[in-house]
Amino acid sequence: MKAAQIQEKGGDFILVDIDKPTPQENEVLIKVEACGICHSDAFVKDGTFPGIEYPRVPGHEVVGTVEKVGNNVSLWKEGQRVGVGWHGGHCFICEPCRRGIFINCENAKVSGISYDGGYAEYMCAPQEAIAAIPEELSSAEAAPLLCAGITVYNALRNSGIRPGDLVAVQGIGGLGHLAVQYAVKMGMRTVAISTSDSKKDLARELGAQHFINTGNEDPSEALQKLGGAKLILTTAPNGDAITSVVNGLGLDGKLLMVAATMDPVEVSPMQLLMGRKSVSGWPSGTAKDSEDTLQFSALTGTAPMIEEYPLEEVEKAYERMINNKARFRVVLKP
Ligand SMILES: NC(=O)c1ccc[n+]([C@@H]2O[C@H](COP(=O)([O-])OP(=O)(O)OC[C@H]3O[C@@H](n4cnc5c(N)ncnc54)[C@H](OP(=O)(O)O)[C@@H]3O)[C@@H](O)[C@H]2O)c1
Ligand SMILES: [Zn+2]
Repeated sequence: MKAAQIQEKGGDFILVDIDKPTPQENEVLIKVEACGICHSDAFVKDGTFPGIEYPRVPGHEVVGTVEKVGNNVSLWKEGQRVGVGWHGGHCFICEPCRRGIFINCENAKVSGISYDGGYAEYMCAPQEAIAAIPEELSSAEAAPLLCAGITVYNALRNSGIRPGDLVAVQGIGGLGHLAVQYAVKMGMRTVAISTSDSKKDLARELGAQHFINTGNEDPSEALQKLGGAKLILTTAPNGDAITSVVNGLGLDGKLLMVAATMDPVEVSPMQLLMGRKSVSGWPSGTAKDSEDTLQFSALTGTAPMIEEYPLEEVEKAYERMINNKARFRVVLKP
């Protein structure tokens, strides 16, 4: 099969012909129809995630059909349309895994990082990491929902926001453009925060009632003029950018970080305590959370705006994402 590998930390994408994988016990072999390019794939390209073994095929926004199942697979059948996201499998024993928090467990896996992912014609994944895809969504539309979508949908729905609340989304990229749509569909007063006016019209099309260009105005002051945010969901992977919105929180406001950066964010207790404000983070979720995300998307007519590229053009496709050119998610089609 054809696959796009990263062969060493910092390496380019190399197109290779390798053996089609065979599903082991509890695994499902997926014939890939679409795979989104997530900013977190930079972890594989740059070698910045702990423990990556090379060569590695990235890709954790995967939709395809079940080609074959291994022993003991009861949930999935050949021909079924399924997907796999960032969460690539877990143990059923340790406390974090039983709670659906996948850290500090050697059996908690990330697809496209712990094992080969969806920048390929086929991939295998454990059955507990697989989600069913609703008929209403095409494979290319559904793929970005398996990481970008689930992350922001799950973060928003577990954040405590209520209809009518002022919700700001910082960074209008793959995650951000879905977060804006979900927040609007959940009944929020929704603000898009972006670094330029280049996405202003698109943010309005996605339903945002307000747009803040951080190149023109201070985002915290602008949010305070709107009454102060109940929630600021930060998807821009930059510590200074995140720091610049903290003072935009209103009473009981929460800064919810999903951008995966090691950059420090500066915030003092006095910025938070008088207004009972908080700072927190959110990882993506389980395969069931993916199914919830897909169902909500189908129900509300939410879909990502995508640009499709053949697998052979992976380098160009990745460049679109990493250089902030994509509107808004690049999807590879093997
Ligand atoms: N928590 C999780 O489970 C999870 C899941 C998936 C991804 N992530 C992480 O979430 C982040 C976003 O991923 P993505 O796929 O949405 O990325 P993306 O498509 O590249 O979008 C990121 C957006 O952030 C803004 N941005 C980028 N660099 C910036 C900078 N230096 N300063 C200010 N703003 C900047 C840009 O928006 P504007 O043009 O609007 O300014 C850009 O479009 C990444 O860090 C990724 O690793 C986390
Ligand atoms: Zn991702």
